[in-house]
Amino acid sequence: MNRTVLKTVIPATVSWVRIPPLPPLITMDIVTKVKIYVEEECKKPTSHYGYEPFVYHFPFVAKYSLELADKLGGDREVLAIASWLHDIGAIVSGRENHHTTGAKIAEEKLTEFGYPKEKIELVKKCILNHRGSQNNNRISVEEQIIGDADALSNFDNISGIFKAAFVYESLDQEKAQKSVREKLKRKWDKLHFEESKKIIRPKYEAIMLLLK
Ligand SMILES: [Fe+2]
Repeated sequence: MNRTVLKTVIPATVSWVRIPPLPPLITMDIVTKVKIYVEEECKKPTSHYGYEPFVYHFPFVAKYSLELADKLGGDREVLAIASWLHDIGAIVSGRENHHTTGAKIAEEKLTEFGYPKEKIELVKKCILNHRGSQNNNRISVEEQIIGDADALSNFDNISGIFKAAFVYESLDQEKAQKSVREKLKRKWDKLHFEESKKIIRPKYEAIMLLLK
């Protein structure tokens, strides 16, 4: 029986073949990039507040800021970014002056991500003026919304406010309860928009009743 032997010749190198790089299937949006960056910072052992703000604070600020934007307008992308970044200064370098340290970090990071300069300026203003002590400096609707959304988020994190009273301020139960109640009342009193009060009124009234 005859056999046919097929010989396959494979060249040792094919240096001229160039496979073009595949385009990325998904282009990550700027808000996702910011969230990933903030989560990385919260996970670091150097985070001044640990990981908890990433779970119990920032998502609520984002939720309320977008809810307010539905009613009041404002740049939703800027609001989402500012919600995730407004306390980055506190995470990275501690609470003192965290509005200014945070604005600087946000500028560096957003520039690195290629975010437009004029939008970076809007985010920076939201961060610089988000603290209760800065509410007279808020000009844009985005700054006002971030200030209110930051305050509203407290009503979804009562355990966190008690933790601050017990752990960071070392208060006893009676003093902690009084302190939490007063803090939440101040947050309510400082809300800028009627829409904010409308959103949070049931929780505010329930908490005031429980902590009487
Ligand atoms: Fe905050």
